[in-house]
Formats: sequence, structure tokens, C-alpha cells
Amino acid sequence: MTAQAQLTVDAAAPDTFQISRHLYGHFAEHLGRCVYEGLWVGEDSDIPNTRGIRNDVVEALKKLDIPNLRWPGGCYADEYHWRDGIGPRDQRPRTVNSLWGGVVETHAFGTHEFLDLCEQLSEGRPEDRRCEPYIAGNVGSGTVQEMQEWIQYMTYDGDSDLARERAANGRKEPWKVKFYGVGNENWGCGGGMHPEFYADQYRQYAEFCRNYGGNRIYKVACGANGRDERWTRVMMDKVGRRMHGLSLHYYTTNWNDKGSATDFGVDLYFDTLRRATEMDDIVSRHSAVMDEFDPDRRIGLIVDEWGTWFDVEPDTNPGFLYQQNTVRDALVAGLTLNIFHKHAQRVQVCNLAQLVNVLQAPILTDGPRMILTPTYHVLEMYKPHQDAAFLPTTVTSPHYTQGPADLDQLNGSASRAADGTIHVSLCNLHHEDDLRVTCAFNGATPKSAAGRILSGDSIQARNTFEDPGVVTPRELQDVSVEGSGLTVTLPAHSVATVAVTTG
Ligand code: AHR
Repeated sequence: MTAQAQLTVDAAAPDTFQISRHLYGHFAEHLGRCVYEGLWVGEDSDIPNTRGIRNDVVEALKKLDIPNLRWPGGCYADEYHWRDGIGPRDQRPRTVNSLWGGVVETHAFGTHEFLDLCEQLSEGRPEDRRCEPYIAGNVGSGTVQEMQEWIQYMTYDGDSDLARERAANGRKEPWKVKFYGVGNENWGCGGGMHPEFYADQYRQYAEFCRNYGGNRIYKVACGANGRDERWTRVMMDKVGRRMHGLSLHYYTTNWNDKGSATDFGVDLYFDTLRRATEMDDIVSRHSAVMDEFDPDRRIGLIVDEWGTWFDVEPDTNPGFLYQQNTVRDALVAGLTLNIFHKHAQRVQVCNLAQLVNVLQAPILTDGPRMILTPTYHVLEMYKPHQDAAFLPTTVTSPHYTQGPADLDQLNGSASRAADGTIHVSLCNLHHEDDLRVTCAFNGATPKSAAGRILSGDSIQARNTFEDPGVVTPRELQDVSVEGSGLTVTLPAHSVATVAVTTG
């Protein structure tokens, strides 16, 4: 069946705002095979690498224009001691990663290797479009002095002992570190703190996060878990402008029964999409609390962990959080990014969890092999929205219902690029019905339209190491400019981005 929907783009909206490219950030934790194997293979590996970092993954990630990368955790951040990860690799300590699988952490990948990765990801891009490091510091088990010295080690441009040590370890020039997280999930794995206690801890630690030379740190405070608005309220009240951003973590999951990433029926497919759409309400509610204290929206809401969380793949380490990725994940990515666009006045940075081989990963590896997941393709198709001007949209959509729950079958967003092109991204959530969408434009007349679409034969369709091209974007055939609007036919469970030139 083909249903009908309408999306109206307000191309003449007076109070538009920028969709920061930093909403397209990523996250790499010392967890499972994300850092080790996924990113770092070591200089002596047979897998082609540059200074130990695998080339195939960097090349694929460069195509996403990654704006920032968060590291070393996650929960791991609050048990990471940066001094373990500098100096000659064969002399670095071997510790236990007690959070994630109890495996030995060799510290082969440390500060220099992470910042090298950010520089490799930035190659060929202008200075203001580079991949900015987002380092998460240790509040749960580290000291104020340790945090202060790490920042000085990385960014001091003078002749201090720490700057000399950095040079002796191979890096004379200071790095620029833009984002710095003062702890992670300090209500849980980061120390089990109450918000009042953490607020004071934050004030103390953040005071010593100094700016050296030309480096300006954007300080991110640990924020709420999902719907915990009280945490946000306490932080806004007790910390306020001492933080530049306040984080929020929300995963699309059923914590009581996460379910398989690949073996699911229509009911679980629908339930996953419904949980993903909750991001809109969650962000709205935290934003409303922030508005009470910060009506000018200077403090950013930083959704630095989002994505699907399913059961690990059979026969893999339960502590490694390795899951496959299907068309369902592509829909979650598309509709979540549409939600972030809408809230971009308050939401300043977002980080998908995680970059390679963990949770909703854009890339999966198996030894020397690498595949791109449906999530990767959505991120690539949505790239034109990075730093573009948000254009408000209104949707008239058929209901997509399962039992008592219902969703709009159509989910979308639009933005205007610097050259005037309007990009419209559309998700047809339905598991079996196609959707014919009419797009109208207030204040603009479309002249031409072309785009790409991502779908698959089923909601469970996925790319595998044996068959990596099952779910890949293809040119959108069924799009046409008609009068002052355009029409697009979206197959069931699909995500599309259309570039529209206007007169
Ligand atoms: O992304 C996996 C984990 O989820 C992170 O380490 C933690 O911050 C969150 O609970």
C-alpha cells in the first residue's frame, strides 16, 4: 500500500539558526574492539596502517567529515590515568579494564595516538572544519592535579617540564583540545554521586581546567541519565555559566530486555522507533529546565552518548557490546538526527555511541576486513546538514500504529546550505507501506531535485563481511518537481536526502 503525506518547508523563516556540525560527533571508548582492532592495530600489523592506526577505517571515516571525537570513555574515562598512556609503548603499564570484559589494557593507544587519529581524520580539511578532540577527564578516581596536568601536557605552548616531556615523547608543538568533559556519568560508573555533590566536584575540577596559549577549552559537565531532570536543575542552579555544556545520555533500548540486533519482528521494530522518537521529548524537557536559568541559551545541551543498545552478537564477549546494524538502526539514526536539528539552538554537540565495533557503530571490522553499516550511510547522506541553516518543517502524516501506540509515518527535517541549496531528509518509518510525500516550500520555488535513498529488502536487512553491499544508498528515482513543490515516493522503512535547488 502507498500512503500519502505532506511536508512543508518554511524557507522564509526569519529566525533560523545553524545546525552545528558538532551534532555529528562520534565516540571511541576503550571498550571491546572499538579502540583496539577497530582503530589501533599497531605499527607492526599486516593491516595497512599509519603510525599504528588502520588506514581503511580512517579513509572511510574521513568521508563522514567527523567534527569531533570523544575519548577515552564513557565509563572508562573515570578509571583512566593519562600518564599510563604516554612514553615508550613497551614500558607502558598493563592494567585491567574492569568495566569492559576484564581484559588487559596495554595502553598502546594513549594521548599521542588519539590526537594523531584526530589529525589523520582532519587531513585535507580547513582548520575550522577539522576533527576536534573531545577528551573526557577522570573525576571518579583521578585527582584535580592529574586533570590539570593532562591539559597542560597537551596544550601548553611554553617551556614547562610537562611541555618538555611532551616534546621528548615526540610532539613539540602543543595540540589544540577544544572539548573537555569533566567526568562521565558521575551519577553511576563515574562515582555514584548525588547531583549536589557532583556540582561541587565539577566546580573544583573545572576551575583547574586552564586555557594555555591560544587553546580555549569548552568545558562539558556530566549531565543527566535520560529523563532525570532533577540532575539538570541542580547543575544549572549550582554550576550555571561555569560550564559551557551540560551532557545528556539517552540510549534507544529496553533495559529490561534489549533483544537481538538482527532477529526481531515488527513489534520490536516499532518499539525501537518509538523509543528513539522519545529523544524529542527528553531533549525538550531538559531544554525547558535550562531555559529557566539560561534563557539566552549560552550553555549547550551535549547529547554525548546516543544510539541503539541491543544484545551482543551470539558467541561474543558480553562485555564488548558488539552488535550488528540493520535498516532499523538506519531509521533510528535518521529520525534522531532530525530531532537534533530541530533542537540545535540548545543542542550544541552530540556523539553517537560508538565509532567502531561497539553498539550502533557506523563501521564493523573483522581482522583485516571492514564493512560500512546502514548507520554509516545515513551519516554520510545527512552530511549536507552540517553547519547549514535550519528550516522549520511541518508534517501531515498518516499514523503508523502498533497496538495502542502510534507514530507519524513520516519524519523529516530541512536545512539551507551556504550555496542556497535546500536539503530535505525524510524517513518512512512503516515496515511495509510505501509513502508518497508532497513537499511544499513557503518562500521558495523548487527548480530541480535529486537525492539518494537507503533501504533494504526487509527491516532486518544488513551488511555482512560476506555481503557488504546489501544496504547501500542508491539514486532516488521517484522524485519530481511539480508546480511549486516536489513529490517523492519513499519505499517502506527507508531514509532519503533530497537536494533541492530553488528559484
Ligand atoms: O557506551 C557504553 C557506556 O554507556 C559508556 O561507557 C557509559 O558512559 C554509558 O553508560
